[in-house]
Amino acid sequence: MKVFITREIPYIAVELLKKKNYDVKVYRESKPIPYSLLKKEIIDSDAVISLLTDKFDMEMIDAMTRCKIIANYAVGYNNIDVAYANKKGITVTNTPDVLTDSTADLAMTLVLACSRRVIEGVNLMRGKKFKGWQPKLLLGIELKGKNFGIIGAGRIGTAVGKRAAAFGVNILYYDSRVNQELESLGANKVPLNSLLRKSDIISVHLPLTDNTFHILNKERLHLIRENSVFVNTARGEISDEKELIKMLGTRKIFSAGFDVYENEPDINPELYHLKNVILLPHLGSATDDARNAMAKLASDNVISVLSGKGAITPV
Ligand code: GLV
Ligand code: GLV
Repeated sequence: MKVFITREIPYIAVELLKKKNYDVKVYRESKPIPYSLLKKEIIDSDAVISLLTDKFDMEMIDAMTRCKIIANYAVGYNNIDVAYANKKGITVTNTPDVLTDSTADLAMTLVLACSRRVIEGVNLMRGKKFKGWQPKLLLGIELKGKNFGIIGAGRIGTAVGKRAAAFGVNILYYDSRVNQELESLGANKVPLNSLLRKSDIISVHLPLTDNTFHILNKERLHLIRENSVFVNTARGEISDEKELIKMLGTRKIFSAGFDVYENEPDINPELYHLKNVILLPHLGSATDDARNAMAKLASDNVISVLSGKGAITPV
C-alpha cells in the first residue's frame, strides 16, 4: 500500500507507517507541492497525509482512484472538499485535541502582547530609543475586569477561556451550543453582535466554512468597541481583513494580533505599516509537542483506515 505525505512532517509518522510495511513516499521540497504534481502522486496512493496548503477540490479527488483516506495534518480542513471526498468513499481526518493547548497558548500570547504593546516596546529598544522610565510610555490595557469575547467555543476557544479566566476577565462566548466548561468559569453565551459590542478583547476560534466566511463583515466589525484588542489564530477569511486594516489604521481598534490571513501566503502589504499590529506566520500548532502528536495521530488514522478499522478522528 502506498502512503503519500505531501511535505516532511515529524519522522514518527513515517516510522509508524513503515512498521506496517507500507510504501511511504514523502515530498521533500521546502515548499508546498504543486497542484499538478500532487495530482500525479495521489493517483496510485492508498492514503495521503496532507497539509492545509494542499487543495483537495473535486478535480483532485476525482484523480484519487485508490485512496481511502486523506489525513489532514491540521485541525482545520477547509482545504478539502469533505462532502465530495466522502461521496467518493474517501474518509477525511484531522488532528484535533493534540494542538489545542499550543494554539490556545499562542492566542493568549497575542492577547497579552497586543494589550501590553510588547512589539512596540521591543522596536523602541532595538531602535536604541529608550530614555529611561517614563510615566506615559506605551500605556496598554490590563486584562483584569475586562470583557473577553471568545468567538467559537470549541476545543481551542474553551482552552483560551480557561487561560483567560486566570487573568480575572469576564468571559463572553459566541457558539451554537452551551459550553459547560466555560459556563463553570462564569462565562455568558451571547449572540455574536452583542459579543462584539461588549468585548474589550476578542479572540477568534471558528473553523472556516461557507457559513463563517466573512462572518465578521464590515457591518459587524464596526460594532467592536473602541480601544479593544482583536486576535485571530483561526482563519483569516473569518473576518473582512481590509476593513480591519482600516479600523486599525485609525486606531478604532487598539491593537490586533494575527496568526492567520485572508490570502496566505500573500500578506496585504498595508499590514506591515501598522504599528499596532502583531503578525505571526501561522504558528498556532508550532510546538514540537503538538507537531509530533499531530504526526502520530495522522499516521494512526491512516493505519486504522487502511486496516479496515475506521478513522480515529474523522471530520
Ligand atoms: C492550523 O491552522 C490547523 O488547522 O491545524
Ligand atoms: C478545534 O480544535 C476547535 O474545536 O477549536
